[in-house]
Amino acid sequence: MILVTGGAGFIGSNFVLQWIAHESGPVVNLDKLTYAGNPDNLADLKGDTRHLLVRGDINDRALVGKLLREHRPRAIVHFAAESHVDRSIHGPTDFVHTNILGTFSLLEEARSFWSELKEPDRSGFRFLHVSTDEVYGSLAPHDPAFTETTPYAPNSPYAASKAASDHLVRSYHHTYGLPTVTTNCSNNYGPYQFPEKLIPLMVLNGLRRKPLPVYGDGQNVRDWLYVEDHCVAVRLVLGKGRAGETYNIGGRCEMTNLEVARAICVLLDEARPRDAPHEKLIGFVKDRPGHDRRYAMDTRKIEAEFGWKPKESFATGLRKTVEWYLDNAKWVERVTSGEYQRWIEANYSNREMGNRK
Ligand code: NAD
Ligand code: DAU
Repeated sequence: MILVTGGAGFIGSNFVLQWIAHESGPVVNLDKLTYAGNPDNLADLKGDTRHLLVRGDINDRALVGKLLREHRPRAIVHFAAESHVDRSIHGPTDFVHTNILGTFSLLEEARSFWSELKEPDRSGFRFLHVSTDEVYGSLAPHDPAFTETTPYAPNSPYAASKAASDHLVRSYHHTYGLPTVTTNCSNNYGPYQFPEKLIPLMVLNGLRRKPLPVYGDGQNVRDWLYVEDHCVAVRLVLGKGRAGETYNIGGRCEMTNLEVARAICVLLDEARPRDAPHEKLIGFVKDRPGHDRRYAMDTRKIEAEFGWKPKESFATGLRKTVEWYLDNAKWVERVTSGEYQRWIEANYSNREMGNRK
């Protein structure tokens, strides 16, 4: 039995679905169900007694303590977070609350539960903290990729809140001996991603013949990884990761945002030839404040220790992703109403679209 936090979000739900398909042992899934948490992502597990979704906040220590003692998990896999950089610029408070204070609350409750365990459960226990490449800051074009020992230099309120949570996790291992492992991953894409993030936003805007807003000059570089490959890596680190260690995860797939937008347009042209060329929808808009120029991950450690490598290339993963959004119109319809519309208004109304390509 494992306790997953944030398992109704994008990566968390992919992880829970993969876990139930490939591992033995049930999952208790603690999720606050914010705008980003969506029980529809877990619809395939309806009636499956191996999955229990509990609506709650990781800051609710009484609830976390109760869940730990009731279900006695052998591990906590901590995905829950406020995850969107642009939202952290518009309003950082929730990021401090969930990412820093929430992780602290979870660590405190984990420490209390773990300290009551007897061997071998005690040394076998794991607190796996899911983090990001953004904690390392921004790279110049020819800088080497981030390694596990690159000094932290977070630039957005989101990245700073994740960096703070990583430091707390590190300190709980160093000071109390809590068997923690941290994973730092690059940009994920795939099914169930909320369409505030670049790839689903571009796919859905393209299908609706709406503008495809590229921030700044479109030359910012991200390293893209298909979400299921990330989930496989997390499972490996959970099973084999050494306590106190951190592991970088990435796709070795650096692309500019403009290249990503164009690759999506090519697939949309195939799917909707009557609307081709979708590239004419691409336009440059006001840049994100403090926009990190480039991320790149050196993943030699996880490759060497566990033989992990991504299965999907960007071409195969992006094709699967576009097909998923085409095939899941109901899911899309349900997430793109209400709160989503308010976000689109808040983020894009002051970003005039210029230089249509
Ligand atoms: P997401 O925003 O899609 O999902 C976050 C989930 O956490 C949601 O289900 C939400 O309801 C839940 N949540 C938020 N606040 C909570 C709280 N206080 N208590 C309980 N649940 C709460 O995020 P994601 O993209 O799936 O990211 C998951 C994790 O992976 C995050 O920690 C993020 O920092 C990290 N990460 C994401 C990416 C990426 O590209 N998306 C890359 C690297 C690392
Ligand atoms: O690097 C890992 C991080 O990737 C995760 O830690 C975050 O949780 C996740 O949200 C993601 O952060 P990014 O800021 O990189 O993702 P986003 O999809 O918001 O943006 C990707 C790039 O695309 C970034 O350079 C900004 C740009 N962008 C984004 C949007 C939403 C655009 O050009 N236009 C847009 O409309």
